[in-house]
Amino acid sequence: MSCLAGVSALITWATSGIGRAAALELSALGAQVALMARGRAALRATGLAVAERGGTAVEIVEDVTDPASVRAAVEHAAAVFGSLDIVVNSAGTAALGPFADGTAQQWQAMVETNLLGALYTAGAAVEHLKAAAAGPRRTADLITIGSVARHAAKAGTGVYAATKSAVASWSEGLRQELEPHGVRVAVIEPGLVDTALTAGLPRGPCGAHRAGRCRRHRLHGHPAPAPCRHAGRSPAYGHGPLSVVGPRPGVARQPRRRHLYRRNARPGCTGLGRRARPLPS
Ligand SMILES: NC(=O)c1ccc[n+]([C@@H]2O[C@H](COP(=O)([O-])OP(=O)(O)OC[C@H]3O[C@@H](n4cnc5c(N)ncnc54)[C@H](OP(=O)(O)O)[C@@H]3O)[C@@H](O)[C@H]2O)c1
Repeated sequence: MSCLAGVSALITWATSGIGRAAALELSALGAQVALMARGRAALRATGLAVAERGGTAVEIVEDVTDPASVRAAVEHAAAVFGSLDIVVNSAGTAALGPFADGTAQQWQAMVETNLLGALYTAGAAVEHLKAAAAGPRRTADLITIGSVARHAAKAGTGVYAATKSAVASWSEGLRQELEPHGVRVAVIEPGLVDTALTAGLPRGPCGAHRAGRCRRHRLHGHPAPAPCRHAGRSPAYGHGPLSVVGPRPGVARQPRRRHLYRRNARPGCTGLGRRARPLPS
C-alpha cells in the first residue's frame, strides 16, 4: 500500500517506542520520513530498518528541549524533502512516583520535553505545514502523542498527566487556528504501551502494569483471591494493533475510555487492567 507516496513526514523521538513504530508505519504507507532523536547510532538503526523495508529515511540528530536544534532539524528535513506534509510530535518523558519524592529536575524535564518540545517542533514546522496544505495534497497533519493519563491522573502520575493536559489544550487551540489553512491538528492518546518509558513501572501479580488497575479482579498490589485469568495470556492479550492514524481528521481526540477499550477487547475481556500493548515489530 502506498497511499502516502510523495508525502514527507517528520517524526521526533523516532528511534524507539511509539515514534519508531510511527516512522516504520508511515514509511510502509509510502511516506519518506525524517527521523529525529539524540542518539546517532539509534537513528542509524531506525534508518536502516526503514531502508530494509524499502522506505526512504533521513536521520537528523536533535534535542527536542533545545529550540535552536529543533528549528535547524526541521529546516534540514524540509530542505531535503522540499516540503513537510506530516509532523509527528512523539517526544515525551515520564518520571512517575510520589510527588514528594520527585525532584525539580524531573518536573523540569517533563515540562521541557512533553510540552515545550512539542511547541518547539510545531513552531518550527507550522509554516511548512501551511505551505504543504496549500499544495496539491490540499492538507497537512500535525499529530502529537498525548496520553490517556490526562483523563485519569492516578497517584504518582500527576505531573506527567498535567503536561499531557497542557498538550491537549494547546493542540485544541492550534487546531482551530490552523483549520482554515487546511492543516489538521490531532492528538493521539494511547494507553499503556510496552516501551522504554514504561519498562520500570511496577507490575501486578498477573503481570499487567499496576497503573492499569485490574477492575475485574482487583488484584494489583493485593494478595490474589484466585489464580488470575490474565496469567499466561499472550502479551498481545486484548489489544489491537497500534494505530498511527489520528481520530477524525481535524478533531483532537476526546476519548471515551471504556468505549475505546471495549472496542479493542477480545470477548470476555473488560479491557481494563490490561498488560501494556506490545508494539508491532
Ligand atoms: N509508553 C506508553 O505507555 C505511553 C502511553 C501514553 C503516551 N505515551 C507517549 O508516547 C510518546 C512516546 O513514548 P515512548 O514510550 O514511545 O518513548 P520511548 O520508547 O522511551 O522513546 C524514547 C525516544 O525518545 C528519544 N529522545 C529521548 N530524549 C530526547 C530528546 N531530548 N530529544 C530528542 N529525542 C529524544 C530517544 O532517543 P535518543 O535517546 O537517541 O534521543 C528515543 O527515540 C511520549 O510522548 C509518551 O508520553 C507513551
